[in-house]
Amino acid sequence: MDMNTLLVSREGHIATVTINRPDKLNALNKQVIAELGACMTQLDNDAEIRCVILTGAGDKAFVAGADISEFASFSVEEGKKLAAEGQQKLFDLVEQMSTPVIAAVNGFALGGGLELAVSCHLRVASENAKMGLPEVSLGVIPGYGGTQRLPRLIGKGRAMELIATAQMMNASRAEETGLVNYVVPQEGLLEKCQEIANRIVRNSPTAIGFAIEAVNDGFDSDKNGFHSEIELFGKAFGTSDFKEGTSAFLEKRKPSFKGE
Ligand code: COA
Repeated sequence: MDMNTLLVSREGHIATVTINRPDKLNALNKQVIAELGACMTQLDNDAEIRCVILTGAGDKAFVAGADISEFASFSVEEGKKLAAEGQQKLFDLVEQMSTPVIAAVNGFALGGGLELAVSCHLRVASENAKMGLPEVSLGVIPGYGGTQRLPRLIGKGRAMELIATAQMMNASRAEETGLVNYVVPQEGLLEKCQEIANRIVRNSPTAIGFAIEAVNDGFDSDKNGFHSEIELFGKAFGTSDFKEGTSAFLEKRKPSFKGE
């Protein structure tokens, strides 16, 4: 499944998706957003795939933001539509996937690039990575969830600083603030992500999907996360993965989950 702006590779239960516009530092234009949204939907519906690693082509950038050349002449209405459609087609979609997505932040993650990394379920950065929300330096604000997800992840004050200064954070500061889980040398970045992915894919994909839903519900002001947890905890008891996981433990063998 190769699309024009993406490269997709699969190994066992792990898919790696690379945004492939290195000459534009993998900036998110309309086509990338549409193709990445479609690709993520397809992978989320693919029972074989239990973890996705998302990265950018080249050694310079994860994603250097939304494509500025596309929106420079937009009106108020067009601006609103750009944010609404992008959030729905890609950023909310990634966050709500039941298959966990690891962002391998291999360089600049700016604006929409940082917002994309923050929509993923966890992040690993290379030492050269630089992260920021430069939107106010362009006279606009983050529009792909940056004013919402970033404060939840690193705290309001730190997010306000990144947003208002438009400055970039280096990788070690990103690790310190919890923006990324680990920082590794660039040549070891994908390997580190694969190591985490390998630990994830041993577990019940159904249970992981339920857990992601419960965690997300806790950050959704229309939902009660504790109630969701109770519901989904109960629902897990009706799955064949639960029967397999508990039987395997009692029989002292490794479980073989089917994701049902
Ligand atoms: N949108 C469109 N094109 C972009 C882009 C973006 N967000 N980010 C980079 N590019 C393009 C550049 O225009 C350039 O294209 P060109 O070779 O056709 O001129 C190419 O990618 C390489 O970028 P360049 O600026 O030459 O690299 P650099 O190493 O000098 O600087 C950055 C790297 C990331 C500091 C710089 O590209 C930058 O500031 N990008 C914009 C970041 C931003 O504000 N993003 C938020 C958008 S809301």
